[in-house]
Amino acid sequence: MNDADRADARAAQLREMLNHHAYLYYVLDRPQIDDAEYDALYRELQALEAEHPELRTPDSPTRRVGSAPLEKFAQVRHLEAMLSLANARDEDELLAWDQRNRRLLEGKGYDDVPLRYVVEPKIDGLAISLTYRDGLFDGGATRGNGEEGEDVTANLRTIGALPLRLRGSEPPAVVEVRGEVYLPLAAFSRLNEARAAAGQPAFVNPRNAAAGSIRQLDPAVAAARPLDLWCYAIGFSEGLDLPDHHSALEWLRAQGFRVNPQIVVVDSIDAVAAACRAWEERRADLDYDIDGAVVKVDSFALQAALGSVAHDPRWAIAFKFAPTTVITRLHGIEVNVGRTGVLTPFAVLEPVFVGGVTVERATLHNEDDIRRKDIRPGDDVILQRAGDVIPQVVGPVLEGWAEEDGRREERSARHAALPEWQMPGACPACGAHVVRETGEVAVRCPNRSCPAQLVESIKHFVSKGAMDIDGVGERLVEDLYAEDLVRDVADLYALRREDLVELEGFALDQKTGAAKRADRVLASIDESRTRPFARLLFALGVRHVGAVTAQALVLGFPSIEALRAASVEELAGVPGVGPVVAEAVQQYLADEHNRDTLEKLRAAGLRLAEEHPRRAEGELAGKSFVLTGKLSSLPRGEAQALIEARGGRVSGSVSKATDYVVVGEDPGSKLAKASRLGVVILGEDELRKLLAAADASADAAAGRLSLGDDALP
Ligand code: IVH
Repeated sequence: MNDADRADARAAQLREMLNHHAYLYYVLDRPQIDDAEYDALYRELQALEAEHPELRTPDSPTRRVGSAPLEKFAQVRHLEAMLSLANARDEDELLAWDQRNRRLLEGKGYDDVPLRYVVEPKIDGLAISLTYRDGLFDGGATRGNGEEGEDVTANLRTIGALPLRLRGSEPPAVVEVRGEVYLPLAAFSRLNEARAAAGQPAFVNPRNAAAGSIRQLDPAVAAARPLDLWCYAIGFSEGLDLPDHHSALEWLRAQGFRVNPQIVVVDSIDAVAAACRAWEERRADLDYDIDGAVVKVDSFALQAALGSVAHDPRWAIAFKFAPTTVITRLHGIEVNVGRTGVLTPFAVLEPVFVGGVTVERATLHNEDDIRRKDIRPGDDVILQRAGDVIPQVVGPVLEGWAEEDGRREERSARHAALPEWQMPGACPACGAHVVRETGEVAVRCPNRSCPAQLVESIKHFVSKGAMDIDGVGERLVEDLYAEDLVRDVADLYALRREDLVELEGFALDQKTGAAKRADRVLASIDESRTRPFARLLFALGVRHVGAVTAQALVLGFPSIEALRAASVEELAGVPGVGPVVAEAVQQYLADEHNRDTLEKLRAAGLRLAEEHPRRAEGELAGKSFVLTGKLSSLPRGEAQALIEARGGRVSGSVSKATDYVVVGEDPGSKLAKASRLGVVILGEDELRKLLAAADASADAAAGRLSLGDDALP
């Protein structure tokens, strides 16, 4: 072998290794070498190609980057048209579609033919077609008008999950692979954050961002956006003979394409409906957006018999979900005053249906956030609500979204003419001058008798995670305050039946003289007197003192007297408590008015000391929990506080790092995910046992008598 042959052989070997490792990493998500090893091989190939430019083959991984910017995209004709899909908005339309298919097939001599369906996610990205000739990637294009699209080959090449060469040993002469380019959700948030920081308009949604990225004339920009790819069909082909859609998906998978592993094949329309619902439930847990499920008749012979109407095949249908992103008008920005005096702006919106509910208010967090996103009253704004997440105003509608909408100019012009929003200088509840402490984003009302703060602090006191006073909701707290019956939290314990029956909704029964609701409220207030000291300390609403910090403080200083006697340094020395918390605790305890409240609470029989303080950083340290479904005996906030008080963490989504998933009624998709990942699944009783066991071993370690199961609420 001479030098040139050796270089040729080594380059071929390097290409194959690099393409294989890219496949393991991007498609299978099972890398076998680390980044440094990959980089070393890559650099070796780069050096070889620099020395021998003739070795730079079309399937070389070095060709994924470095193409020059284009003036404009060339148009390419698809070998087979790219169709679109008709929609089914609900199950009835799905059933009607199935009925019609069966009727049509009967008309063509297929009597009572068994129909098999494939149910796939409808990826909310950008449709593309990839052409492979003799196994090599030859180019790719957007859908365009369905017949002709734009040649975005250079940008597509930057996608790691796109095979540059098919993996099979006998590639067809030609094949068009159809799929969806998309931006994973985490990458989308990072991209929008970076754009906001750079003063650029936000992308409305990941689809818009993916479309914007693939249609970049400079491939370097596309390369910087971590686009990904799901493949879901074959268009034109020559030299391929497959009987049905699910075989096509398997073939694609074998060739090295990313094909969604959760696609299912079913054989009744009821099972189709169930699979569509399963996709809808799974939706919030996915790291990519889907806007529906696609149902396809499996058999290619039956697909051909059914044919198409205009651009929609009869053999496929999109089962659409409710949108999670919409555009609506921002009528105004108003301000709430919280229990610690923080002014929180919120959006007053034209009501819209999004993510399954009607939204007309959404928090805007703080003044800086509004500035950063440049949201102005009068704007059309992008509103997002995914899963059970609170609605979020993403940003104003400027040029970022408008490719498919001709009204862009008008909207941008209006935005520019609208005045920026200003935080009010006076508290909207009491009129006091607001202050913004240096280094803080929050603006605060300094008036400690501000009615808004008092009402909010009472709402916090009675809430589930705090004193959990059943039957005393936000509305009742407002009424009690308005009627001058309750001015601070201690006044709750002085309420009498005759006070309550005066309130709306509490009237005495004319005949029997019973006051059921008043009695129930009084009973639950009474019952709350026995809450542990740590819960009370949290319920008082001391700044910076959450449920876990309260537990930590009580562990170090198990009574109000002990806390009061401690210096700031001593308080700050408690694990989990820092100087900021310590300062806030001392300020709170030194305050005259708070002292009065605490004395009133003591007189009312509440517990201002703890006999058996629990370790805050404890037996469950490092364990991660996810709660799902409705827990029947334990409010979710309480379950979370109990776990956290023992050092565990509660997170919102299941991953490989999750140790336990606690399931209540109607658990939804998190349960499915947990069993797939092999995470330990606990019922409520098992959670109680786990907590009790953690306490028992903590008690044993501390030489205390174990309180056992009964100590839990
Ligand atoms: S099949 C013959 N499958 O939905 C049907 N499309 O309105 C052609 N899409 O332009 C498409 N996920 O961008 C198909 N699993 C999937 C899909 C999917 C998303 C998009 C695609 C297409 C549009 C149809």
